[in-house]
Amino acid sequence: MAHITCSSYGQWFSVKASLGAAKQRTVSWMIVSPEIEQYAEAHTTCETAQIKDLAAETVAKLEDPGMMVGAVEGRLLEMLAFATKARSILEIGTFSGYSCLAMAAGMPSDGHITTCEISERHAGIARRNIARCGYADRIDVLLGPALDTLATLDGPFDLIFIDADKHNYIPYYEAAIDMLSPAGIIVVDNTLWSARVLDPGDTTEDTSAIRAFNDHVRDDPRVVCVLLTVRDGVTIIRKAV
Ligand SMILES: C[S@@+](CC[C@H](N)C(=O)[O-])C[C@H]1O[C@@H](n2cnc3c(N)ncnc32)[C@H](O)[C@@H]1O
Repeated sequence: MAHITCSSYGQWFSVKASLGAAKQRTVSWMIVSPEIEQYAEAHTTCETAQIKDLAAETVAKLEDPGMMVGAVEGRLLEMLAFATKARSILEIGTFSGYSCLAMAAGMPSDGHITTCEISERHAGIARRNIARCGYADRIDVLLGPALDTLATLDGPFDLIFIDADKHNYIPYYEAAIDMLSPAGIIVVDNTLWSARVLDPGDTTEDTSAIRAFNDHVRDDPRVVCVLLTVRDGVTIIRKAV
């Protein structure tokens, strides 16, 4: 990231706009400037050796390693699991298991995670890392389209993390609300979508889906929500009381 030297929000976006497609891919998950992101990461408890190994394997073997939540959001998820004492966690979008292992580190020892993944390859890498980290008996990776998998689950779940295909965010959210425990929280990733939500010229399916999702949640009287400018945008939702 050293090639980016801008220091303000506006400059950051103009630099980002001038990057080639390949570089945009490596930086496009950040909403704040790279310097702030690096500072935040440098002042966050660093990743465990196991998570570092998982991240290195993901970079070496899978396309789009930037889909991992990374060190700062990973610690945020761990904090949320810890603070809510979440004994029952549901994840939609496992990838190689980074966020799953981050949440596992914050849950109590009798906690359990159900994580949904459509790709056999991603699920295979995740299962190996989950076993290597000693969580095999506490985490189930369920293979298949998540909407089909969700229809087989009962809940309740104390923490639900949504991080899969964007055009299904509203159906995932509606399924999640029905399975959320009364004091539970839903956490949703990529809700700023590399700031593309602000670009009126961007009418692509994923950007439109994220905008529709953000409006849907804000206007839902059943819930209270906050959209955080962490990484690519993280929305936290609870039931209104
Ligand atoms: C952004 S990645 C998840 C990243 C992961 N939470 C992490 O931090 O490492 C999204 C994942 O969702 C999976 N996915 C996409 N569409 C899906 C679907 N319909 N059902 C289940 N998983 C899906 C993708 O294969 C991918 O592994």
